[in-house]
Amino acid sequence: MKKLFNLLLLAVLFTGCSMPSGDTNKANGEFKPLSTEVTERPDGQKDVLGLTAPKIETVRVGFIGLGMRGPGAVNRFTHIPGVEIVALCDLHPERVEKSQAILEKAGLPAAAGYSGQEESWKELCQRDDLDLVYIATDWKHHAEMMIYAMEQGKHVACEVPAAMTMEEIWDVINTAERTQKHCMQLENCVYDFFELTTLNMAQKGVFGEVLYAEGAYIHQLENYWNSYEGDWRLEYNKNHRGDIYATHGMGPACQLLDIHRGDKMNYLVAMDSKPVSIPNYIREVRGEEVGDFKNGQHTMTMIKTEKEKTIHIQHDVASPRPYSRMYQVTGTKGFANKYPNEGYALEASQIDSDVAANHEDLSAHSYVPEEVKKALMEKYKHPIHKELEEQAKKVGGHGGMDFIMDYRLIYCLQNGLPLDMDVYDLAEWCCLAPLTALSLENNSAPVEIPDFTRGGWNKVQGFRHAFAE
Ligand SMILES: NC(=O)c1ccc[n+]([C@@H]2O[C@H](COP(=O)([O-])OP(=O)(O)OC[C@H]3O[C@@H](n4cnc5c(N)ncnc54)[C@H](O)[C@@H]3O)[C@@H](O)[C@H]2O)c1
Repeated sequence: MKKLFNLLLLAVLFTGCSMPSGDTNKANGEFKPLSTEVTERPDGQKDVLGLTAPKIETVRVGFIGLGMRGPGAVNRFTHIPGVEIVALCDLHPERVEKSQAILEKAGLPAAAGYSGQEESWKELCQRDDLDLVYIATDWKHHAEMMIYAMEQGKHVACEVPAAMTMEEIWDVINTAERTQKHCMQLENCVYDFFELTTLNMAQKGVFGEVLYAEGAYIHQLENYWNSYEGDWRLEYNKNHRGDIYATHGMGPACQLLDIHRGDKMNYLVAMDSKPVSIPNYIREVRGEEVGDFKNGQHTMTMIKTEKEKTIHIQHDVASPRPYSRMYQVTGTKGFANKYPNEGYALEASQIDSDVAANHEDLSAHSYVPEEVKKALMEKYKHPIHKELEEQAKKVGGHGGMDFIMDYRLIYCLQNGLPLDMDVYDLAEWCCLAPLTALSLENNSAPVEIPDFTRGGWNKVQGFRHAFAE
């Protein structure tokens, strides 16, 4: 069961990659991307599409990982009604104490603390008074911790990327299906204000048919490299080629394109430039030998979907350039772009008269004027933002999106609703790490993206957030 995948397969490719004739550019029968193994769903196990669990009036939560990211989550949870923070865990006792101080400041009782041992987190998971385990450790611990927590009967939420290899991804899926527990990746960027408004516009047809979505993680991390516990993040970059941090770009793009809710990703192609800045940093700032540094300076991935749409994802944590998640949406009747400046360009027919009186004059060759953009964003404000925007901006966490993410997780658990992100989203958004590496190691060969639902990708039509009646 463990060795589901053998990542190196089919040496024979490229032979049938020519595009077919006709009115479609869909791959024809000869097309043979590299593929990874997909095993059948074990007997007695069923999918978790639209999974619901009994309502939980007060969600009892335990946190594992209280480094740079974890304590912010503890703080946000003190602002969510119907939550009890039961347990806190980190390798370092002083980090547990720091988060206890957050509880004290919020007037809440101290939580049970776990620390000191590499496996103290298992004791937290074994508690019988916990509903949810919230994980914010380094990437290498995520899958193991999620799997163990679900096996102990807990729902899990895990920081990004929640799984790094195909083996981990399938193990996490199989555990979620076997235990029928919620397993949500904590992808916050899908809740940011421009993204969620734009998703709402897309779902209401404002952009016509969306054909292309773009996303990225472009963030020079030089000032952060020394802050990660045990240097885990630099080490991961050193030892792995490919887009190892793809979920901030993938999440919004996949929600726009209804991935495994009527469409599915078929294959990807990746290309990277040679690593320069981080090896220089290691040599010049740290004064260390570099050895074989694997992660490319800039990694680009192109994805083709079953419904013949495309996604472009980029990763660059090395170059001196402004932070960007790109975030671009192109439809048959309009366009949205977030970085470096936000804007919409729409065909006049897509702008209602309550948004702009003289909308017929607007040109599709430039962004709509600022006041029209504002009116559009007001008109299409997502119901989640209508409810939470003010509080989210006060509580904060990347401008409020982190609070919205946590709030939605708890709201759905309290109301027995499907979570906004399921284990298949986790798989789809995380699979770029192993699959781009496979493409890169084979001269940018096309690599098949498995249907992680194992046949269920077309059962649900359209991505929608769930709300209580
Ligand atoms: N969504 C976002 O915007 C966002 C932002 C920053 C970080 N992250 C993610 O959050 C996660 C944590 O990142 P970080 O910056 O806090 O890293 P970090 O190194 O500062 O923190 C990791 C913590 O996990 C603890 N830990 C490691 N092994 C443990 C074990 N066996 N038991 C208990 N605790 C253990 C470490 O002691 C450390 O305190 C990563 O997955 C990262 O990618 C997400």
